[in-house]
Amino acid sequence: MPRFPTGLAFRYSLEINQSIGPFVPRPRCPQCAFSLRNLGLSHDARLVNFGAAMRALINFLGIMLVVLLIGSAISVAQENSGQRLTGYVPRLSDLMVVIQIRHSKLFYAVKRGNWPLADFELEQLTSTLKEAGTYYPKTVPSSDLTGSTEIKNAIAEAIKAKDEANFDQSFAQLTAECNRCHEAADRAFIFIRRPAFPSTFSNQLYGPRPTEQQKRGH
Ligand code: HEC
Repeated sequence: MPRFPTGLAFRYSLEINQSIGPFVPRPRCPQCAFSLRNLGLSHDARLVNFGAAMRALINFLGIMLVVLLIGSAISVAQENSGQRLTGYVPRLSDLMVVIQIRHSKLFYAVKRGNWPLADFELEQLTSTLKEAGTYYPKTVPSSDLTGSTEIKNAIAEAIKAKDEANFDQSFAQLTAECNRCHEAADRAFIFIRRPAFPSTFSNQLYGPRPTEQQKRGH
């Protein structure tokens, strides 16, 4: 790599930023007023090298552009291949908030008769639950999810048949499943219920956990 551009930039910054001794006027080129001593060249030689430097600079920029393009192509390819560059692992409670939203959406989709949306949300919900099991096998053991696979199938059937009564029944089982695990995981204070009013977050009771008798009334 020709060193001319870097050398020039270095000398330039030295001159601007730093005083390195008593001021000594430098010999100037009478034609262009550039410091000849800076470059250590005669006027003609400097002109010739200036052209070479420009070519080197253009070559350098071209190479940088290619490097950047290849770099971004590699990162896109890695993203598409599903490899996580950062090794990001979502927190369990973050996955759970996503599950909560989908639990609610599933319910409202059925209540509004949007069966394809209900089907979609059910898939999303169960795959996020599986993901929680993959990342946190101790807290969310797959044995705990077998019950929810059966419930999932029952809900899927109800959606396919557009059977709201069956859906309601299986949805209640699913909700009980959420709470069973929360209780087992010492998180009984996270109590999930059938959405109570039109709000995504109305599927959680924010007051104290209800008594067994109150639960049956739901
Ligand atoms: C097999 C276990 C298990 C199942 C099944 C489960 N959860 Fe959870 N959930 C947990 C655990 C453990 C936590 C507490 C995470 C923590 O402490 O970081 C939690 C936390 C939550 C939270 C609190 C998140 C927050 O940050 O506010 C919500 C909401 C939630 N779950 C919703 C649900 C819903 C809805 C379902 C059912 C569709 C469900 N969970 C099923 C284990 C489970």
